[in-house]
Amino acid sequence: MKEILKNNKELKFYIHTFGCQMNENDSERIAGILTAAGAKKSDSPEKSDLIIVNTCAVREKAEEKLSSYLGNLASLKKGKKVYIGVVGCVAQLHQSKLLDKKPFIDFVLGPDNYHQLTHIIHSNSKEKFISTDWSQELDESLHKLALRKSNISAYVTIMEGCNNYCSYCIVPFTRGREKFRLKHNIFREVQDLASRGYKEIFLLGQNVNSYKDPKTGEGFSSLLKETNCFNGIEWIRFITSHPKNFSKDTASIMKESEKVCHQLHLPIQSGSSSVLKRMNRGYTREEYLKKITFIRDLMPDISLSTDIIVGFPGETEEEFQETLSLLREIRYTNIFSFRYSPRPLTTASQEKDTVSLEEKRRRLLEVQKLQKNIQIELNKTFIGRVLKVLCSGKSKKDSHIFTGRTDGHQVANFKSQKNVTDQFVDVQISSCGPYSLFGEAD
Ligand code: SAH
Ligand code: SF4
Ligand code: F3S
Repeated sequence: MKEILKNNKELKFYIHTFGCQMNENDSERIAGILTAAGAKKSDSPEKSDLIIVNTCAVREKAEEKLSSYLGNLASLKKGKKVYIGVVGCVAQLHQSKLLDKKPFIDFVLGPDNYHQLTHIIHSNSKEKFISTDWSQELDESLHKLALRKSNISAYVTIMEGCNNYCSYCIVPFTRGREKFRLKHNIFREVQDLASRGYKEIFLLGQNVNSYKDPKTGEGFSSLLKETNCFNGIEWIRFITSHPKNFSKDTASIMKESEKVCHQLHLPIQSGSSSVLKRMNRGYTREEYLKKITFIRDLMPDISLSTDIIVGFPGETEEEFQETLSLLREIRYTNIFSFRYSPRPLTTASQEKDTVSLEEKRRRLLEVQKLQKNIQIELNKTFIGRVLKVLCSGKSKKDSHIFTGRTDGHQVANFKSQKNVTDQFVDVQISSCGPYSLFGEAD
């Protein structure tokens, strides 16, 4: 790749990110490494010498989207000298098979191997490069370099990997075992963000509640409590919590701490205890509901969201109805719902995928229809109220409208006389749809 650097003086790179917030954060760190090595971020693949695709393997659909994206890159590469790297979860999963199947790919890096990028861009070699080793620790140098998309909200990874092995989930195979950052390093990053004017942070991990400082053994609750001490940071959020690990202690810290938003994403996956058992989730419907009652008693204004999978192997109509009844009972602010997708290496994929595609589609539609009605009802209760909103910029659909998120992490679109991008604003809510609130800034 060195020849590109020599000819162009400046290497231009483009990163396309699929997947979750951790992939978003990884892409920011990748952009940081490349920038520190003298390359420049570009806003389109066509204008770039190096294209990196950060991938997600969580469902078949994610891999299909990737395949079609890579197909377009293959055409772009024809007649042009451009390097293509595939990184992230699909890279870790398929490793060298990716290079065999798609010969236009130049390098493949698993999530623990991004430090190799400096070597790759300075290399004289024309050989394909692959690195998918696991490391014991998270690489601190990469956190320091992150080139962030937002000037106001920042992701801060506190742990990575998962030891839970839910029977449907590929993540333990793509992200490896749980690894934790030292609290000291996490706080150095938060301090740096605060001093640069960041107002909102998201503590990130596949299972944040299992966080343990590698030196002192201090857990997530104490980390969350201390995160409140940074002047300038006004909103603290965390994702994702596992229901079996989310503790009463953490709920109490959320209540006590002024800066921790009263918002919690607590993925249930199914409302049926028998399905939860087959999913290896480690809690029953009743235990989950008890936790929700405890949390709501402490914080009546809590905004709850969840993930739902429909059509898990063997899911009967009765079991599915239990998911619907749970949604009616909890009335989440928001849900993310998916059709079950068999994934390689998982134990569920060895079971017969008994629910037909048509039936999975029907169940998904039913979940979404019910939830949509719940959200319309809930959102109407905000009409007439003034909510604090962190504005992320202009709406993509309408340049006269601004958009942001409330404390409860709901989307709020609003009119404003001034440009309030990257600022907190009070918005008077005047109307709503199922997925967003609408109003005017004071
Ligand atoms: N670590 C988080 C999120 C994991 S992936 C957690 O434990 O909650 C995000 C969501 O994708 C999961 O919560 C689940 O709802 C969904 N998911 C994971 N594997 C899936 C599969 N094989 N089929 C369908 N949905 C899946
Ligand atoms: Fe996947 Fe379960 Fe781990 Fe979440 S907790 S990443 S769903 S194995
Ligand atoms: Fe996808 Fe990997 Fe995140 S599989 S959901 S990008 S951890």
